[in-house]
Amino acid sequence: MTVDSASFATRAVHAGRGPQHAPSRATPIYLTAGFEFDDFDHAADHFGTGAGFGYTRTGNPTVRAVEQKLAALESGADAVLLASGQAAVVTAFLTVAGAGDHIVSSAHIYEGTRGLLVDNLARLGIQTTFVDDISDPDAWRRAIRPNTRALFAESIANARNDVLDVAAVSAVGDEAALPLIVDNTLATPYLLRPLEHGAAVVVHSASKFLAGHGSVLGGVIVDDGRFDAAAAGHNAPHLVLPGRGGLAGVAARHGGNARIAYAREAVAPRFGASPSPLNAFLIGQGAETLALRVQRQSANALEVARWLAHHDAVECVDYVGLESHPDHRTAVRYLDGGFGSIFTVTLHGGIDAARSFVGNVRVFTHMTHIGDVRSLVLHPATTSHALRTEEERERLGVHPGTLRLSIGIEDPADLIADLSRVLTRVGERVA
Ligand SMILES: Cc1ncc(COP(=O)(O)O)c(C=O)c1O
Repeated sequence: MTVDSASFATRAVHAGRGPQHAPSRATPIYLTAGFEFDDFDHAADHFGTGAGFGYTRTGNPTVRAVEQKLAALESGADAVLLASGQAAVVTAFLTVAGAGDHIVSSAHIYEGTRGLLVDNLARLGIQTTFVDDISDPDAWRRAIRPNTRALFAESIANARNDVLDVAAVSAVGDEAALPLIVDNTLATPYLLRPLEHGAAVVVHSASKFLAGHGSVLGGVIVDDGRFDAAAAGHNAPHLVLPGRGGLAGVAARHGGNARIAYAREAVAPRFGASPSPLNAFLIGQGAETLALRVQRQSANALEVARWLAHHDAVECVDYVGLESHPDHRTAVRYLDGGFGSIFTVTLHGGIDAARSFVGNVRVFTHMTHIGDVRSLVLHPATTSHALRTEEERERLGVHPGTLRLSIGIEDPADLIADLSRVLTRVGERVA
């Protein structure tokens, strides 16, 4: 019996099925839960080696194409795409650490990552020590313990706009055979590629600049492919010991790619935060224009930051593109093509001034997101950093009058006109 002669219900399910190959120029969207095996042995081989595609949680051609694009942009050996940046960060940590292990992290990180470390991973038995002065290699060195498994920091941190000396912190990691994991969300690989400066792993919230359109969530881990079992195996026994069922160890099977292979085989699919192929496609589409957007956003941000820095209503602007920023020289060393588009501005007049600003913007959008083509504003003290004490907020550069701006690709004259109107009103209220 052919499908054509089958009953209505069977035709509805099976008609039109079959392998179709057309050389699509855009990445095809394989919106499918799984893939048909060629034969009995193909299925066994897929389960045995992980080669090819079987089920979308463990691999999908659309997702794979985007992983390869993002690995290439970060100068990495391989990448794993996940459903969100938060999923990428937790997958990166669980790839290197387990119960009884320890992580050394910058204190200047996204609050969601901090929550993951201090609440969730701590409950799983992974402890974290936070380093406040991230520009001091000795501060990192002192925090390392015998059970430390990784160092973690953001390349450009929010809210103070600190820039990480990636080479210096990687060198501290190398002394103890520890990978440096860098969250490169704010810098993007267009401005900075941490793997070229000695970091071992990069993570991103792809929901931000990589996608750029603010339509989807996603995350990615990119690995340098330089895992050295002889030098670092004692810090990663799960990568060098034989696997279950007599399987050779991950390092024996994947060599320098052991870490990312473990993330792909044993962490990401088991914890299950797999990306939708449709979202992967949209991230890949966005990434194609990353250079143009980040170039424009960085130029806009510099213009807006310079304008704000001279305004009477403004107490200070923490933007690494300004020569007044303590990390400006580090930024000039590491960032190529601009200084990014996210920074904070602190207004005279504290929370009342901030409230008036947020309530009056028209071109800027008031929302909790960054790296979008649209310019965005958020008041961190009452939102992202609301759970911190006032003293902690002050240390992190989050004051009552501080606003976080994420500058988009609009005409900078329109952004400045919006800010000018808003700051005139702020000045009237505060006076
Ligand atoms: C620096 C950084 N890392 C990670 C994340 C988490 O990413 P997502 O929101 O895509 O889960 C964010 C989100 O704002 C972020 O700003």
